[in-house]
Amino acid sequence: MENSEYIREILRLKKEKNAVILAHNYQRPEIQDIADFVGDSLGLSIEAGKTKADIIIFCGVDFMAETAKILNPDKKVLIPEKAMCPMAMMLSPEEILTAKKKFKSQNPAVVLYVNTHASCKALSDYACTSANAVRILNSITNDTIIFGPDANLADYAKKHTNKNIITIPEFGNCPTHHQISVNDIKEAKTQHPNAKFIAHPECTREVLEIANFVGSTEQMLKFVKSSDNGEFIVGTEIGIIYRLRKENPNKKFYPASNTAICPNMKMTTLESVYNALKFEKYEINLDKEIMDKARKSIERMIAIV
Ligand code: 13P
Ligand code: SF4
Repeated sequence: MENSEYIREILRLKKEKNAVILAHNYQRPEIQDIADFVGDSLGLSIEAGKTKADIIIFCGVDFMAETAKILNPDKKVLIPEKAMCPMAMMLSPEEILTAKKKFKSQNPAVVLYVNTHASCKALSDYACTSANAVRILNSITNDTIIFGPDANLADYAKKHTNKNIITIPEFGNCPTHHQISVNDIKEAKTQHPNAKFIAHPECTREVLEIANFVGSTEQMLKFVKSSDNGEFIVGTEIGIIYRLRKENPNKKFYPASNTAICPNMKMTTLESVYNALKFEKYEINLDKEIMDKARKSIERMIAIV
């Protein structure tokens, strides 16, 4: 089928089945265009919690669709492709239990980046996203916090809190962001000396140190909109550049690295969204007890922000 035909069928099936399409900022342009809501992990979690639709089509990666299911246990949540986040795979429930036992005497709270599986969230006290990690950490009374799986986000957050942060696993990271180097930024700055450099906190400490702004994908979009500057070097997955250009047609955007592509985010196509709607696949199914525990952690985060 042609793209236009897929789009027509997606819109028809969406109405017929009372479905909503949520898409992350890194999704392909054509997916962002057919979505009812495009946003960062936090925005998508909040939107998922508010929807009146019977079916949620989640265009993103596994942990995001799981979060939508946890917040909507009675709804059908579908992920068009079995797209996994490699960072979420770096942390296991066993590792959390081991850390809890090891640091028990320090009465630690467990704060997990939303990029984790439901079985891990179920063992946490709070979830957080890149948009609110610092705020969540500073709102907790415990002095010691077990935090995972992103060591770069943990490192960034440490600079903005007095808490004793224990990172699990030791070197968890997002391969897409971790590979963006200081040299990439220096090169981009040589070519575009008037551009401001905006970066995602999943980048390394060295890269974040030379950024003019650090924030979640949605916070980057807000910063660009409110900035007087006309050019930006973008230190995150390059899929966000589509929305940046669409919403700021008079500004210029340059990827910090042309290889900052998340292959998992790019798996979703118009064909897979169509198949998801037509055949109602792939359904997210999670254990009720795990969902109930994980929901508490996500709701505590939402209550704070
Ligand atoms: P945001 O919450 O900033 O959109 O980030 C999600 C993510 O997976 C970043 O790689
Ligand atoms: Fe996971 Fe990184 Fe892809 Fe985000 S960009 S989904 S953190 S691998």
